Amino acid sequence: MEHDFWISKWQNNEIAFHEAQGNPYLVKHHGFLSSTDSPRVFVPLCGKTRDIHYLLSQGYDVVAAELSELAITQLFEELGELPEITQDTSHKRYHIPGLTVFVGDFFALTAKQIGDITSVYDRAALIALPDTMRVRYTQQLMSLTNKARQFLICVDYDQTVMPGPPFATPEDTVRSLYEAHYTVTRCESEEIEGGLKGKVEAKNDVYYLTPR
Ligand SMILES: C[S@@+](CC[C@H](N)C(=O)[O-])C[C@H]1O[C@@H](n2cnc3c(N)ncnc32)[C@H](O)[C@@H]1O
Repeated sequence: MEHDFWISKWQNNEIAFHEAQGNPYLVKHHGFLSSTDSPRVFVPLCGKTRDIHYLLSQGYDVVAAELSELAITQLFEELGELPEITQDTSHKRYHIPGLTVFVGDFFALTAKQIGDITSVYDRAALIALPDTMRVRYTQQLMSLTNKARQFLICVDYDQTVMPGPPFATPEDTVRSLYEAHYTVTRCESEEIEGGLKGKVEAKNDVYYLTPR
Protein backbone atom coordinates (compact mmCIF):
# COMPACT_ATOMS: atom_id res chain seq x y z
CA MET A 1 0.00 0.00 0.00
CA GLU A 2 1.14 3.52 -0.66
CA HIS A 3 2.03 5.76 2.27
CA ASP A 4 -0.75 8.19 1.28
CA PHE A 5 -3.33 5.44 1.73
CA TRP A 6 -2.46 5.01 5.42
CA ILE A 7 -1.83 8.69 6.12
CA SER A 8 -5.30 9.54 4.82
CA LYS A 9 -6.86 6.65 6.79
CA TRP A 10 -5.51 8.24 9.96
CA GLN A 11 -6.46 11.78 8.90
CA ASN A 12 -10.04 10.65 8.19
CA ASN A 13 -10.18 8.52 11.34
CA GLU A 14 -10.96 5.43 9.24
CA ILE A 15 -9.33 3.08 11.70
CA ALA A 16 -11.73 0.15 12.03
CA PHE A 17 -8.63 -2.05 12.57
CA HIS A 18 -8.01 -0.34 15.92
CA GLU A 19 -9.17 -2.42 18.87
CA ALA A 20 -10.61 -0.66 21.92
CA GLN A 21 -9.02 -3.15 24.32
CA GLY A 22 -5.80 -5.15 24.43
CA ASN A 23 -6.01 -8.03 21.96
CA PRO A 24 -7.35 -11.17 23.72
CA TYR A 25 -4.79 -13.42 22.01
CA LEU A 26 -1.99 -11.19 23.25
CA VAL A 27 -3.42 -11.26 26.77
CA LYS A 28 -3.60 -15.06 26.63
CA HIS A 29 -0.22 -15.73 24.97
CA HIS A 30 2.04 -12.82 25.94
CA GLY A 31 4.25 -15.21 27.94
CA PHE A 32 5.65 -16.34 24.58
CA LEU A 33 7.21 -12.89 24.24
CA SER A 34 9.07 -13.12 27.54
CA SER A 35 11.76 -15.68 26.79
CA THR A 36 14.39 -13.64 28.65
CA ASP A 37 14.51 -11.75 31.97
CA SER A 38 14.44 -8.38 30.21
CA PRO A 39 12.19 -8.77 27.19
CA ARG A 40 12.32 -6.00 24.61
CA VAL A 41 9.43 -6.41 22.22
CA PHE A 42 9.27 -4.89 18.73
CA VAL A 43 5.81 -3.91 17.44
CA PRO A 44 5.94 -3.16 13.69
CA LEU A 45 3.27 -0.97 12.04
CA CYS A 46 1.85 -0.30 15.50
CA GLY A 47 -0.82 2.37 14.90
CA LYS A 48 -2.02 3.49 18.32
CA THR A 49 -2.68 -0.04 19.47
CA ARG A 50 -3.91 -0.62 23.02
CA ASP A 51 -1.60 -3.64 22.97
CA ILE A 52 1.26 -1.26 23.72
CA HIS A 53 -0.57 -0.15 26.88
CA TYR A 54 -0.98 -3.82 27.80
CA LEU A 55 2.66 -4.74 27.14
CA LEU A 56 3.84 -1.78 29.23
CA SER A 57 1.49 -2.77 32.05
CA GLN A 58 3.06 -6.23 32.04
CA GLY A 59 6.55 -4.79 32.37
CA TYR A 60 7.80 -5.25 28.81
CA ASP A 61 10.12 -2.76 27.17
CA VAL A 62 8.53 -1.85 23.84
CA VAL A 63 10.02 -0.55 20.61
CA ALA A 64 7.55 0.23 17.85
CA ALA A 65 7.35 1.66 14.33
CA GLU A 66 4.56 3.58 12.64
CA LEU A 67 4.21 5.74 9.53
CA SER A 68 1.54 8.11 10.83
CA GLU A 69 2.63 10.78 13.30
CA LEU A 70 -1.04 11.45 14.06
CA ALA A 71 -1.40 7.85 15.27
CA ILE A 72 1.58 8.23 17.56
CA THR A 73 0.43 11.58 18.92
CA GLN A 74 -2.84 9.87 19.82
CA LEU A 75 -1.00 6.85 21.27
CA PHE A 76 0.90 9.03 23.75
CA GLU A 77 -2.18 11.14 24.54
CA GLU A 78 -4.11 7.96 25.34
CA LEU A 79 -1.20 6.70 27.44
CA GLY A 80 -1.34 10.03 29.29
CA GLU A 81 2.37 10.52 28.68
CA LEU A 82 4.42 13.40 27.28
CA PRO A 83 7.16 11.88 25.13
CA GLU A 84 10.60 13.26 24.39
CA ILE A 85 10.66 13.80 20.61
CA THR A 86 13.92 13.76 18.69
CA GLN A 87 14.90 13.47 15.05
CA ASP A 88 16.82 10.22 14.47
CA THR A 89 18.21 10.25 10.89
CA SER A 90 15.26 9.03 8.80
CA HIS A 91 12.70 8.93 11.62
CA LYS A 92 11.21 10.93 14.45
CA ARG A 93 11.76 9.14 17.73
CA TYR A 94 9.09 9.39 20.46
CA HIS A 95 10.38 8.17 23.79
CA ILE A 96 9.31 7.62 27.38
CA PRO A 97 10.98 5.16 29.75
CA GLY A 98 10.05 1.67 28.53
CA LEU A 99 8.71 2.79 25.16
CA THR A 100 10.34 4.09 21.99
CA VAL A 101 8.39 4.64 18.79
CA PHE A 102 10.01 5.39 15.44
CA VAL A 103 7.73 7.47 13.24
CA GLY A 104 8.38 7.05 9.53
CA ASP A 105 8.76 4.27 6.98
CA PHE A 106 9.30 0.82 8.52
CA PHE A 107 11.34 -0.14 5.45
CA ALA A 108 13.84 2.66 6.12
CA LEU A 109 14.55 1.60 9.73
CA THR A 110 17.85 -0.03 10.65
CA ALA A 111 18.74 -2.63 13.27
CA LYS A 112 21.19 -0.13 14.75
CA GLN A 113 18.40 2.40 15.33
CA ILE A 114 16.07 0.03 17.15
CA GLY A 115 18.74 -1.86 19.13
CA ASP A 116 18.51 -5.40 20.51
CA ILE A 117 15.09 -7.01 20.30
CA THR A 118 14.11 -10.24 22.08
CA SER A 119 10.67 -10.78 20.50
CA VAL A 120 8.24 -9.45 17.93
CA TYR A 121 4.50 -8.90 18.21
CA ASP A 122 2.75 -8.66 14.84
CA ARG A 123 -0.96 -7.94 14.92
CA ALA A 124 -2.40 -6.40 11.74
CA ALA A 125 1.01 -5.62 10.23
CA LEU A 126 1.71 -8.55 7.88
CA ILE A 127 -2.00 -8.72 7.06
CA ALA A 128 -2.09 -5.00 6.27
CA LEU A 129 0.26 -5.57 3.34
CA PRO A 130 -0.55 -7.04 -0.07
CA ASP A 131 1.24 -10.15 -1.36
CA THR A 132 3.63 -8.02 -3.41
CA MET A 133 5.07 -6.41 -0.25
CA ARG A 134 5.21 -9.40 2.04
CA VAL A 135 8.58 -10.89 1.21
CA ARG A 136 10.16 -7.46 1.59
CA TYR A 137 8.31 -6.90 4.88
CA THR A 138 9.29 -10.24 6.43
CA GLN A 139 12.92 -9.92 5.27
CA GLN A 140 13.13 -6.43 6.78
CA LEU A 141 11.48 -7.59 10.02
CA MET A 142 13.87 -10.53 10.39
CA SER A 143 16.85 -8.35 9.57
CA LEU A 144 15.83 -5.63 12.06
CA THR A 145 15.28 -8.08 14.90
CA ASN A 146 17.95 -10.68 14.17
CA LYS A 147 15.14 -13.22 13.67
CA ALA A 148 13.78 -12.80 17.16
CA ARG A 149 10.90 -15.06 18.17
CA GLN A 150 7.56 -13.79 17.00
CA PHE A 151 3.92 -13.89 18.06
CA LEU A 152 1.84 -13.40 14.92
CA ILE A 153 -1.90 -12.87 14.52
CA CYS A 154 -3.37 -13.36 11.04
CA VAL A 155 -6.76 -13.42 9.42
CA ASP A 156 -7.85 -15.83 6.72
CA TYR A 157 -10.84 -15.59 4.41
CA ASP A 158 -11.81 -15.92 0.76
CA GLN A 159 -9.94 -13.01 -0.84
CA THR A 160 -12.14 -13.18 -3.94
CA VAL A 161 -15.14 -11.99 -1.89
CA MET A 162 -13.55 -8.82 -0.57
CA PRO A 163 -10.42 -6.80 -1.28
CA GLY A 164 -7.94 -6.08 1.52
CA PRO A 165 -6.69 -4.70 3.76
CA PRO A 166 -6.72 -6.81 5.79
CA PHE A 167 -5.35 -9.27 3.25
CA ALA A 168 -6.11 -12.97 3.65
CA THR A 169 -3.10 -14.76 5.08
CA PRO A 170 -3.50 -18.53 4.95
CA GLU A 171 -1.20 -20.85 6.88
CA ASP A 172 0.61 -21.81 3.64
CA THR A 173 1.56 -18.16 3.14
CA VAL A 174 2.89 -17.82 6.70
CA ARG A 175 4.92 -20.99 6.22
CA SER A 176 6.32 -19.94 2.86
CA LEU A 177 7.41 -16.58 4.31
CA TYR A 178 8.88 -17.81 7.58
CA GLU A 179 9.45 -21.57 7.66
CA ALA A 180 13.04 -21.41 6.40
CA HIS A 181 13.95 -19.45 9.55
CA TYR A 182 11.39 -20.40 12.18
CA THR A 183 9.49 -23.36 13.49
CA VAL A 184 5.94 -22.24 12.75
CA THR A 185 3.31 -23.39 15.24
CA ARG A 186 -0.32 -22.42 14.82
CA CYS A 187 -1.56 -22.17 18.40
CA GLU A 188 -5.10 -20.89 17.75
CA SER A 189 -7.54 -20.95 14.86
CA GLU A 190 -10.96 -19.45 15.55
CA GLU A 191 -13.91 -18.38 13.45
CA ILE A 192 -14.59 -14.63 13.65
CA GLU A 193 -18.13 -14.27 14.94
CA GLY A 194 -20.25 -12.48 12.32
CA GLY A 195 -17.44 -12.73 9.76
CA LEU A 196 -14.96 -10.08 8.66
CA LYS A 197 -16.62 -6.65 8.46
CA GLY A 198 -19.90 -8.65 8.40
CA LYS A 199 -19.18 -9.52 4.76
CA VAL A 200 -17.28 -12.79 4.60
CA GLU A 201 -16.65 -15.82 6.80
CA ALA A 202 -13.21 -15.50 8.30
CA LYS A 203 -10.98 -16.87 11.03
CA ASN A 204 -8.16 -15.64 13.19
CA ASP A 205 -5.03 -17.77 13.00
CA VAL A 206 -2.43 -17.23 15.67
CA TYR A 207 1.18 -18.40 15.46
CA TYR A 208 4.30 -18.87 17.51
CA LEU A 209 7.41 -18.42 15.35
CA THR A 210 10.40 -19.91 17.13
CA PRO A 211 13.84 -19.36 15.57
CA ARG A 212 15.37 -22.56 14.20
C1 LIG B 1 -3.94 -2.24 9.90
S1 LIG B 1 -3.06 -1.03 10.77
C2 LIG B 1 -2.62 -1.94 12.23
C3 LIG B 1 -2.13 -1.10 13.37
C4 LIG B 1 -1.81 -1.89 14.65
N1 LIG B 1 -0.86 -2.95 14.42
C5 LIG B 1 -3.05 -2.41 15.30
O1 LIG B 1 -3.12 -3.60 15.60
O2 LIG B 1 -3.97 -1.60 15.56
C6 LIG B 1 -1.54 -0.92 9.86
C7 LIG B 1 -0.67 0.23 10.29
O3 LIG B 1 0.54 0.19 9.55
C8 LIG B 1 0.96 1.50 9.31
N2 LIG B 1 1.89 1.46 8.15
C9 LIG B 1 1.58 1.15 6.89
N3 LIG B 1 2.67 1.17 6.10
C10 LIG B 1 3.71 1.50 6.91
C11 LIG B 1 5.11 1.69 6.70
N4 LIG B 1 5.67 1.54 5.48
N5 LIG B 1 5.89 2.03 7.76
C12 LIG B 1 5.34 2.16 9.00
N6 LIG B 1 4.02 2.00 9.26
C13 LIG B 1 3.21 1.67 8.23
C14 LIG B 1 -0.35 2.25 9.03
O4 LIG B 1 -0.24 3.65 9.20
C15 LIG B 1 -1.28 1.60 10.05
O5 LIG B 1 -1.32 2.32 11.26
